[in-house]
Amino acid sequence: MKLGIVGAGMVGSTAAYAVALMGHVSEIVLVDQNAALARAQADDIAHAMPFAAATQVRSGGYADLAGASVIIIAAGVSQKPGETRLDLLGRNAAVFRAVLSETMTVAPQAILLVATNPVDVMTGITARLTGQPPARVIGSGTTLDSARFRDLLARALNVAPRSVHAYVLGEHGDSEVLAWSSARVGALTLDAAAAQTGRPLTLEIREKIDTGVRRAAYAIIEGKGATYHGIGAALARLVAAINGNERSVHSVSTMTTQIVGVHGVPLSLPRVLGRDGVEAELVPDLDTSEQAALADSARLLKQTLESVPL
Ligand code: 2OP
Repeated sequence: MKLGIVGAGMVGSTAAYAVALMGHVSEIVLVDQNAALARAQADDIAHAMPFAAATQVRSGGYADLAGASVIIIAAGVSQKPGETRLDLLGRNAAVFRAVLSETMTVAPQAILLVATNPVDVMTGITARLTGQPPARVIGSGTTLDSARFRDLLARALNVAPRSVHAYVLGEHGDSEVLAWSSARVGALTLDAAAAQTGRPLTLEIREKIDTGVRRAAYAIIEGKGATYHGIGAALARLVAAINGNERSVHSVSTMTTQIVGVHGVPLSLPRVLGRDGVEAELVPDLDTSEQAALADSARLLKQTLESVPL
């Protein structure tokens, strides 16, 4: 199994490191317009391999992506303090026009995993520019936000985050929707789990969790300039799900035919991932306010995608 990564900045290289440590691909190729950066990142990660898996990690040009089953696209600029993800759109759309034509020429069979922000719109742009079916153009979407939601719920209830099943839907960004009504701990509703653990989820705690998830990236960017460990692990997990034909469920972004009355929009919903990319969509029951919030998020993303000239 060969993984390609275009963009060897913090996100691309951290994803490479996470995949390399997990050891589920045989080869990782890092490509960047700054070849010296790609080489340095690849060498640094390769030096960790004697302590971990036997993954071959190297840098290369686009031609070296030939034969990759999955290619992570992490090229582009990232948020500065105070910027929203949508502020990046114009700059990153231009980067994608160049990167995707090179990538598709050498690896037309690869599943594309988009990580660049604003990730939902970039996923829509990628689907448009490549003409690939939506199932094979997947944005990391709210995978990371769902992890943040699980982490905060797990801390509030004092259980392991892996036992929390909770999803963030819609935009990976300010309009995202925390699906509280469908969240479960083990097989229990949140209210039942809160009662049985003796840790009530008061309105105040719920509001703190909502803000904690929605504002997580802003707080981290204020503190250290960028986020990359969380997204790196999330991307590695998605690569494992696809390459391992796991059919596991992740809240990834892809062009969605119809949701809450909005047609043709790139956004995140829980989806089954396997060898062919997105293999099914599992939309949870939502209450009225969650549905309305998801419709707002979907309309915003659709308008934003339509504002980008081809
Ligand atoms: C994140 O949520 C900035 O989108 C990036 O960490």
